[in-house]
Amino acid sequence: MATETASRGLENVVVASTRLSAIDGTAGRLSYVGYDIHDLAERASFEEIVHLLWYGELPGARQLQEFSARLAAERALTADELALANSIPTSGHGMDALRTLVSGLAQLDARADATDPADADRIGVRILAKMPALIAAWDRRRRGAAPVAPDPRLSHAANFLYMLHGQRPSATAAQAFDTYLVLVVEHGLNASTFAARVAIGAQADVYCAIVAAIGTLKGLLHGGANQKAMETFLDIGEPERAGAYVEGLVARGERLMGVGHRIYKVEDPRVRHLRRQVQAVAAGAEARWQAIADEVGRVVAEHPHFTRRQINPNVEFYSAPLLYTLGLPLDLFTVAFALSRAAGWMAHIREQLADNRLIRPKADYHGPAPRGFAPIEERG
Ligand code: ACO
Repeated sequence: MATETASRGLENVVVASTRLSAIDGTAGRLSYVGYDIHDLAERASFEEIVHLLWYGELPGARQLQEFSARLAAERALTADELALANSIPTSGHGMDALRTLVSGLAQLDARADATDPADADRIGVRILAKMPALIAAWDRRRRGAAPVAPDPRLSHAANFLYMLHGQRPSATAAQAFDTYLVLVVEHGLNASTFAARVAIGAQADVYCAIVAAIGTLKGLLHGGANQKAMETFLDIGEPERAGAYVEGLVARGERLMGVGHRIYKVEDPRVRHLRRQVQAVAAGAEARWQAIADEVGRVVAEHPHFTRRQINPNVEFYSAPLLYTLGLPLDLFTVAFALSRAAGWMAHIREQLADNRLIRPKADYHGPAPRGFAPIEERG
């Protein structure tokens, strides 16, 4: 018999305290360590935001230079790390490859299980810097292309596009991807961040916590939605087909990917910045994907199924056409999300380590009442 009430999905349950981000889902506000997202997007670089999340303050010019130099020094792959990217299967989803690559990084770190502040910081820089290089090398290998070494003069965002495509990105593309990374780096106690905190809270190591988070982010209701949103836009094909497509989907009781949020009941404040970046990078035929997304957004804003439930486009909605226009393969969309969110996970891991208590909620048992055991020969 139930004795306590379970909160399904832990909705509205507070299970941690954080200094990292504040979300007001009714007013549509998001801030990182006190700075409004509208002040940061397009004005602060990803490296600046990582510094803010990890060290509590935006860096000065010299601090930024030093921090960027640390990332640049870690970005180049060692022979063992390159062998790792060259040895895992090229079949399967990009998120499966990323999860395996980060696991492999742990095996190549003699102090993988150290969680003191200095080691957590070292491992944070290592994982953040190496994930893009490893996954780009893996993706190029499955396309039959040689890996591209990072360029120390390029930013974190520009380097990923360079290592992936083998060509230095335009300033517009680099800015768009940098803005993307800034917008998705941190968002409270979302499912993957919670997974990271649970793992580190049990005194697993930092690599394990990041691997747990990567696995969780792959979920279709979470980070996996950016790929699914793009597949939806590709299916729709033309803006004129959006209305009938959404109508059919609602009639079948299916979910439209890239809309809806547990916390935001109004427009997600990140959406407008992502849309602006899609607009900036889209040219010619590629403008179609923005037009389709715009039209789907218009249908959602007027359709009673969505308006009654306060469902609006979420962060994945315009991320999809943005990443597509930047030339990422579909199964690297959620990987791109992870490349940024890893910094947010790391910030939460550091917070959890600084004041750890095992995270261990309870389940409300509603199985059979106590009953007698019968040995196998008496069970018939
Ligand atoms: N399409 C259609 N209907 C939806 C959608 C959607 N995307 N999202 C919610 N609903 C409906 C549900 O069917 C339900 O209807 P009902 O009351 O008639 O049963 C109602 O809205 C409430 O749904 P819940 O699942 O209880 O809402 P929850 O807060 O758990 O949903 C979630 C949040 C999981 C994100 C949901 O909106 C969803 O599945 N969206 C699509 C996937 C997606 O885009 N995920 C990315 C989220 S952002 C991120 O994680 C980075």
